[in-house]
Amino acid sequence: MKFENAVDEIKNRCNIVDVIGRCVPLKKAGSNYKGVCPFHNEKTPSFVVSEEKQIFTCFGCGASGDVIEFVQRYENLDFHGAVQKLAEECGVDLTKSSFGTESRKEVYYEWNREAAAYFYKVFRKSVNPGIAYMQKRGLKPETLQKFGIGYADENWDSLYRYLKGKGADERILLSLGLISDSKGRYYDKFRNRVIFPIINTRGKVIGFGGRVLGDGTPKYLNSPESPVFLKKNNLYGLNLSRQDINKEDCAILVEGYMDVISLYQHGIRNVAASLGTALTENQAAMLKRYTNNVILSYDADEAGKAAALRGMDILHKAGCKVKVLHISDGKDPDEFIKKNGRDAFRGLLKEALPFADYKLALLKEKSDLRTTDGNVVFLQKAAEILRELSPVEADIYVRKLAAETHISEGAIRMEMRGAKSEANNVPSEKRRSETKKTQIGGRDLLERNLIRLMLLKGTYIPRTEPYASAFKDPVCYRIYEVIRSLYQSDEEIDLKKLEDSLDNECAVVLGEIVEHIQLSGNDEQMFEDCIEHIRIGMREKREAEIIKLLEIMDEEKEKTAIEDLTKELMQIQREKSRGGFGA
Ligand code: CTP
Ligand code: MN
Repeated sequence: MKFENAVDEIKNRCNIVDVIGRCVPLKKAGSNYKGVCPFHNEKTPSFVVSEEKQIFTCFGCGASGDVIEFVQRYENLDFHGAVQKLAEECGVDLTKSSFGTESRKEVYYEWNREAAAYFYKVFRKSVNPGIAYMQKRGLKPETLQKFGIGYADENWDSLYRYLKGKGADERILLSLGLISDSKGRYYDKFRNRVIFPIINTRGKVIGFGGRVLGDGTPKYLNSPESPVFLKKNNLYGLNLSRQDINKEDCAILVEGYMDVISLYQHGIRNVAASLGTALTENQAAMLKRYTNNVILSYDADEAGKAAALRGMDILHKAGCKVKVLHISDGKDPDEFIKKNGRDAFRGLLKEALPFADYKLALLKEKSDLRTTDGNVVFLQKAAEILRELSPVEADIYVRKLAAETHISEGAIRMEMRGAKSEANNVPSEKRRSETKKTQIGGRDLLERNLIRLMLLKGTYIPRTEPYASAFKDPVCYRIYEVIRSLYQSDEEIDLKKLEDSLDNECAVVLGEIVEHIQLSGNDEQMFEDCIEHIRIGMREKREAEIIKLLEIMDEEKEKTAIEDLTKELMQIQREKSRGGFGA
């Protein structure tokens, strides 16, 4: 793609409020957003972000610019570097050249907006079949208004004549899929349908979905792909829900228009839809701008289950923590919440299964564990699923599986290693970057892992010292204390001696640790993962502490202290946005 086009495309896809909001806490102030300027020291916020104009300005230090300029300054990148970073984040492929220039695209947005306004106006008329249909489906006027729902009447060319009257060019309406032509005449594509405008996170109307008012076919008619509508780059409802998704640090992903709207009306607002199509990497990347936690809530039928399975792999690969919710009553989230209400749906959210559990449960359902053959196939497939997990996570599942089935832990581990032989051949550099993303599991497990490592190699004991406060579990802490007291440099811990020095409770836990915590061979990586996990926790705690302190400190009397804390806070937030601990 031409570089200028890419820049336009990025600006179209990235909302500056979201980009800045991820590194600077912003509060809504009138039509703008306000925060503490990251470019100079201040306590009272004078840093303003305009969503409408897509720019930032600091009234304290004068810094200002657009989203790219922000990233340049904040990340200390040159223009090209900032463009590259944003392009990655919002799924713009700088090597492809399929995007039109922005000025050309503006026209498409404009006519889509006109069309949406027309449908909306018709829908708002006193009586029409569209509003009657939506009311029958339980939607309130304010919800319909929020989503800009419209109605396309049953005439052949109402929209066409309206837009033509406003000076529209047929070629544009054709490529937007609003009209079609036949024998020299133009016809509206959407007729006698309820219209769902599809709006991107920049508030531009990029396409439409139209639903028949009853049982006709096709049930939904959707805009074709156009210069402004690429299905793989969009999630329905995200324009309204992204802030809630950010706030709740969780996105609920559903299949259809009606699921989004219905959940939203019932107060579940962190929701978006993939619109029946298979989830794409770009959509996963979009969600990741707001959260890492996704709950898939697809339809209860076989098609929904299959779509969920595919979707969870894509999300997992993108680095999301995925859970799957099972609709226990009704065919989809819309039906369920209408019948059972918000709290019942919240209940389902709580019970959503982590994706490995979900896959294993499905696999178990399909396997015949009474026969040897069935067991073998089950074991192979289960091992494949576990391979996708980090060693620590996998370990938990190995034990769970062994307890549930009559397969031994050893056999499951062996199968996993066998299945893994291929993965072991990849260069260590690549493996390392993959394992980097692994998770350490729960707190308790983290502490147990560290103890296991210290028993493996004495050198881990002094290296753990700066993080001693990470031992929150009293039993683990007591074990750690004893290990530390027994440690002599250049010597490994004598397990027998350690056992003798522990009280009963500790000895039991130590036994569990020695027996169950498996080290995957790469103990150094595991140690580093553990420490990184602890440091992230400490950083989070310190950040909250500083924010509290800044709120209560006296601006006059504690000026230098405030400056120091602000600097420290900025440093923490920069590190967080980089996702590491670099200088
Ligand atoms: N879909 C589509 N074309 C169809 C059927 C479905 O594009 N012929 C898409 C729509 O985006 C729809 C989603 O797939 O919202 C899910 O389909 P389905 O479950 O059949 O529709 P619902 O969302 O349940 O819609 P409704 O409640 O109106 O039946
Ligand atoms: Mn459905």
